[in-house]
Formats: sequence, C-alpha cells, structure tokens
Amino acid sequence: MKDFVWRTGAIALFGLTFILPFQNCAKLSSLKGGEASSSSHGVPHIMRTSSVESLNTDINFRVFDERLSTSALFNWTFKLDNVASGCAPKTASNASTFILNCSAPGSLKVTVEITDAGVTQSLSYSTILQTPSSGNEIPMDVVFEIPNGTGDASWNTAATRVETFVGQKLKLKNMDSGNHQLHTNGKPCPHGNSIAPGATVDCVISQAYNPTADGTVYDHDDGTTARFNLIAYNGATLYAQNCAGCHTALATSTVPMAKVSSILAARSSKPAMMGNAAVQALTRRQIEAISYALGAR
Ligand code: HEC
Repeated sequence: MKDFVWRTGAIALFGLTFILPFQNCAKLSSLKGGEASSSSHGVPHIMRTSSVESLNTDINFRVFDERLSTSALFNWTFKLDNVASGCAPKTASNASTFILNCSAPGSLKVTVEITDAGVTQSLSYSTILQTPSSGNEIPMDVVFEIPNGTGDASWNTAATRVETFVGQKLKLKNMDSGNHQLHTNGKPCPHGNSIAPGATVDCVISQAYNPTADGTVYDHDDGTTARFNLIAYNGATLYAQNCAGCHTALATSTVPMAKVSSILAARSSKPAMMGNAAVQALTRRQIEAISYALGAR
C-alpha cells in the first residue's frame, strides 16, 4: 500500500509538501530541487543536515548508509552547472560529512564515491541554488547554525570561519539541544542574548571585527575554549586598501555602484586587475562588502 501511494503521483507532492530540513534525502540517481526520493531512509543516500540551502551559506551534507563499515573511504565532489567551480568546499573531501559554500546560483550536484570492502558506489544530491528573489547580488542576511551536538565545544573551526561585513545581519540559529549565547566585547555586534534550542538570535554586524586584533568571540555559557570563528569586514576599508589606488577614493570612485558581478568580471578580464595579487586574493564576501560600500545592492 505504501508503495502504491508513493508511485501514484505522490512523489511530486512529497517534494512540495513534505520537504523538511532533515528529510531532504537524495540517492543514487540525480533528483531535482532537493526532492526526497521515493525510497525509504533505509537505503544509502546523501542527507542535507543544514536547514537552509542558499547562496553564501554553509550547506552541510552527510552520508547515510547503515551498512558502511568504519573503514569506508569517501571522495566528495560537486558540480555547479556541470563545472567544478562557484562553490568552496569547507571541509576535506574524504570524510562522511561535507560542507559546501556556494557563491553562484545554478544547478548544484554533490556526489560522493564511497569505497567499502572493495566495492565502490556513488551517491548524489541535486538541487537548484537560486539568486535571491530581489535580484540582489549581496545577501544581507547570513545564517549560521550552531550544530546539533556542539555542547561546550567550539561552534565551528578556523576552516569553516563565517565571513560577514558591516551592514549584514548574522542570524545565529541554535540546532543544538542546550542553550547557547554569543559573547562579544561589542564587536562585531553587541553581546548576544541566550539562544534557546531551535531559536534564532540576530547579531547585527555594526563594526569590523578581526579575532587577531579584537580578541575571540565565544560561547558565553562555555567560556573561551568554545569559540565562534568569525570575521567581519568593513567594505570602505577594503576599498581603500585594494581599489582606491586605481579608482580614486570611495567618495569619488570611478566605479560607483559597481555590482559584485561587474567587479568579478573586471577582476578576471582587466589586465591591471588580473595582475594585482591583492585584488585576486579577495574572497567573494570581501567583494560583496566593497560593492555594498560602493552603493550597489
Ligand atoms: C592596479 C589597478 C587596479 C586596481 C587595484 C583595481 N582596478 Fe578595477 N580596473 C582597473 C582598470 C585599468 C580597469 C579598466 C578600466 C577601463 O576599462 O576603462 C578596471 C576596471 C574595473 C571595473 C569595470 C569598470 C567598467 O566600467 O568596465 C570595475 C567594476 C572595477 N575595476 C572595480 C574594481 C574594484 C572594486 C577594485 C578593488 C577591489 C579594483 N577595481 C581594483 C584597474 C584597477
């Protein structure tokens, strides 16, 4: 009976009606739009373990296969519109979990090859990453999920550091079973309130923040060893450091309102910018900060 229901059109309904964050499983073949497959959770599949699936936000994946031995080997890869670019892996590709942060929209396919007891199988997860509906290139909200099981440990690592800039809102969502609370000394946002399990507390980025100069931010309940690896840029400062030399000061810039896509295009096509190591090294988030300071949205 269950099989009958699955196979008579409910598959599409399932995708639309029952997409819950932790049920978004995909297996073996490619599936559209993060749709769950028609098979049960007992079969091997990739599960998305973060609740959001949007640009410039960490997307966590995990292999779910009850039969795997502890010596199984993993090899994660991804393609965005069939090319392996546009996303930054934030974890090594050889673990059972994987974190990807994508800066460009498109059709995302995450694949993991699993070798266990001499047998290799391939699982994939497919979804469409959309440009924010406003057409804006700069996300003003950044979501960070305090992972389930964090306890009194750090919320993330240096490798999965969260990048923000002044003007953005960092939304801290507590996916853990106990309370968490952000401790700051005023940078990049005021000291936070307690975040109950399932709740979200905003950290409005009002000041540039660099842990090296400004001291660490950490979980108020658990002390300095429970770090939150975070950085907050000031777009005007970044512009002065990286662009003003060729484009004059921010207030009189020769590239006012430059959109992120224009800056990225110029960076890979204008010889003067192509030859500038500092410009080449800027992260997507830093370019967003500069574009925002230039007045683009
Ligand atoms: C070493 C000099 C240099 C630096 C540094 C530099 N640019 Fe440029 N940029 C240029 C030149 C030269 C052009 C081409 C101007 C033209 O085609 O008229 C250009 C073109 C551009 C364009 C395209 C303008 C258009 O109308 O086509 C944008 C946008 C831009 N730069 C933004 C930036 C930003 C933002 C930074 C800092 C992150 C930066 N540039 C850093 C030299 C530089």
